[in-house]
Amino acid sequence: MTDSVIRLQGVRKSYRLGKVEVPALGGIDLEIESGEFGALAGPSGSGKTTLLNLIGCLDKPTAGRLFLDGLDITDSSLDKLADIRGSKIGFIFQTFNLIPVLSAFENVEYPLLLGGVGRKERHERVNEWLDNVGLAPQANQRPDQLSGGQRQRVAIARAMVSRPVLVLADEPTANLDSETAAQILDLLHRINRETSVTFLFATHDPAIISRAHRRIRLRDGHIAADERNHQLTGGVVHAS
Ligand SMILES: Nc1ncnc2c1ncn2[C@@H]1O[C@H](COP(=O)(O)OP(=O)(O)O)[C@@H](O)[C@H]1O
Ligand SMILES: [Mg+2]
Repeated sequence: MTDSVIRLQGVRKSYRLGKVEVPALGGIDLEIESGEFGALAGPSGSGKTTLLNLIGCLDKPTAGRLFLDGLDITDSSLDKLADIRGSKIGFIFQTFNLIPVLSAFENVEYPLLLGGVGRKERHERVNEWLDNVGLAPQANQRPDQLSGGQRQRVAIARAMVSRPVLVLADEPTANLDSETAAQILDLLHRINRETSVTFLFATHDPAIISRAHRRIRLRDGHIAADERNHQLTGGVVHAS
């Protein structure tokens, strides 16, 4: 066994719209190793979100096999997928998806409440992550009292607090100005270095694409290119 976090073999996905089958992904083979910082690039409609949703256990493939952290999840039930999602995966979204009536602290705490983590440990972990993303002073503020960049930092803390093996981000900087986007990217890079958590982003932001260690380009539901930037990975050549 390799230490792949993600492995897809011949994965296809089509959506059914009435009697019409809409093909979204065709025959994807992809392996992502532990600690990678990968960008999923490609034009609108190329299948980026569909691929993230499959990897994130939010949807099931039409054909092919899917492995997550060494586990074959292809035939897992929706309940089982929800468990796997809760314990192994963090999500970051374009629109932040924070709960508006909860404070920053409570938003970050929420996945730990769902996971049954005790109060003392919950508080320690939430404070640690709010501090890590630079938002300790805003702990008691609600999302509407925070800037876009601050909201995305809360979302990053929320994604990390459950200690996932994988963080998936769908267009995480699309709603941010370019300077804030660069700061968010710096933060994600630092978290990637410090924790070795694997990151996979869907993006058409050239700044993210150019700074990813690995660039996977989708076109019409197929992988059109898959390159590693050896300058960014310190010249380490991964076997693939
Ligand atoms: N829920 C859905 N129902 C029907 N077709 C969909 C659905 N979601 C995505 N598609 C189609 O699948 C293809 C890939 O979409 P998507 O994964 O959203 O691409 P991207 O994220 O790269 O913009 C597109 O043709 C899109 O119209
Ligand atoms: Mg999309």
